[in-house]
Amino acid sequence: MSKKMWGGRFRKEINRDFFQFQKSAHYDWRLAEYDIYHSIIHVFALCEAGILSASEAEKLTSALEDISKEVKEGKFKPNLNAEDIHTDIQNRVAKKVGKLAHKLHTLRSRNDQVTFDEKWYCYKEGVYILSLLNQVLSELNHWGNRYKDIFMPGYTHTQRAQVVSFINYTGAFFCMLERDFQRLDSFLKKSSIYIGSGALAGSAIPRLAYSEAIKKFLQRVESYPKPSKSEAVRNPLDNVASRDFLIEFLSILAIIQMHLSRIAEDFILYSTKEFAFFDLPEEFCTGSSLMPHKKNPDFLELVRGNTGKVYGNLMSILTTMKALPLTYNRDMQADKEPLFSSVKTIGDELKIMTEFIKGIKLNEQQIRHALEDEGLYATELVEFLVYEGVAFKKAHNIIGRLIRYSEEKNVKIKGMSDKVLKTFHSKLNHGNIKRIMNPKYAVSSKKSLSKGRQTASSGLARENRA
Ligand code: ARG
Repeated sequence: MSKKMWGGRFRKEINRDFFQFQKSAHYDWRLAEYDIYHSIIHVFALCEAGILSASEAEKLTSALEDISKEVKEGKFKPNLNAEDIHTDIQNRVAKKVGKLAHKLHTLRSRNDQVTFDEKWYCYKEGVYILSLLNQVLSELNHWGNRYKDIFMPGYTHTQRAQVVSFINYTGAFFCMLERDFQRLDSFLKKSSIYIGSGALAGSAIPRLAYSEAIKKFLQRVESYPKPSKSEAVRNPLDNVASRDFLIEFLSILAIIQMHLSRIAEDFILYSTKEFAFFDLPEEFCTGSSLMPHKKNPDFLELVRGNTGKVYGNLMSILTTMKALPLTYNRDMQADKEPLFSSVKTIGDELKIMTEFIKGIKLNEQQIRHALEDEGLYATELVEFLVYEGVAFKKAHNIIGRLIRYSEEKNVKIKGMSDKVLKTFHSKLNHGNIKRIMNPKYAVSSKKSLSKGRQTASSGLARENRA
């Protein structure tokens, strides 16, 4: 067991099982980088406030920066016997500077550290996820454009509905993920970090010292992704008690997950022999240990399956936070694993999804075959009659009867003579039918779609939406 950050008032050693039960070092080491930032800012503030001399501050900062370097180079090995990452780092500083380390924690609390660390973690991971989302968006865009002359059946209720263009199909997913992009972008823009809550009541270190310290620190990490807003703590009770920033982040991730799951489901469905529209990239599929012919869409199934976990992570923290009395409570330690889990899951999924989409091939022959289903054009026939002056309800009924007739007699509408067609309506004839029951006509008859190229505020190409 490594050195604790408390203990003076205790006569007995902590129970071993309880120690193992309560420690968080085996997962909260992911916050190491930000915890060091907190410490450096704190050292600056202590120096501003005259509690540390310039040379003491210098020694502590340099020890902290050494540890920070290890973290950034991936060489940091967390001490899993420490109570938490805050303790671990405190002990490392002590190893480097000896007794001076006893001054590092002057007038601060882990409650303040943990909020700060998590805010910065969400920010940095959010920036990374934003860049991954951007890659999926651009891949969806390429994919749509690669097959931009292709039409396909569109579905409602998983039943063939009307013809759509492939670029509109990929554009639908583009729009969903673009909204996710914007949601995350605005979350990141408003995220801010505070320091100086003490345990809950604030700190005896002047507000100005904190503001100066934060300013000085942020100048040093200029190129690093950092929250744009930062100031001395506004309300210390709120700062240590609240996790809504984290819940908001997890809810944005849960919505991304929902969209990825829907994409996965569509791809699975369209890759079945029954549909056979898509040929999935082999390098992201697996085989069966028994059935030699199988090519299973495991990546997509795992994405779809992960939804339970990612939604659960959000629900887990919402539930943990419900009814907690002000301010910090140890219950809140349970926010970390769900947070890390969703970040890792969404990051992995987005990264692989970009490559996956790149490798999907369209089975154009099979899609063309599906487009021969005459039911797909029934709505266009109704529209034709409406433009010929027939009331919609009547036109709907006429075409409904025409479809039923075609099914019962087992004859194609396109194969019906003018004489038969005219028994349904005088304006229907073979020439009209041929012109209308055609994928290109069906799609181009839709005048409500915007054709204009727009640029999203995020600067993303939006041509996929037309
Ligand atoms: N491991 C704790 C957490 O994650 C850090 C804060 C601990 N504070 C305390 N007073 N025990 O929430």
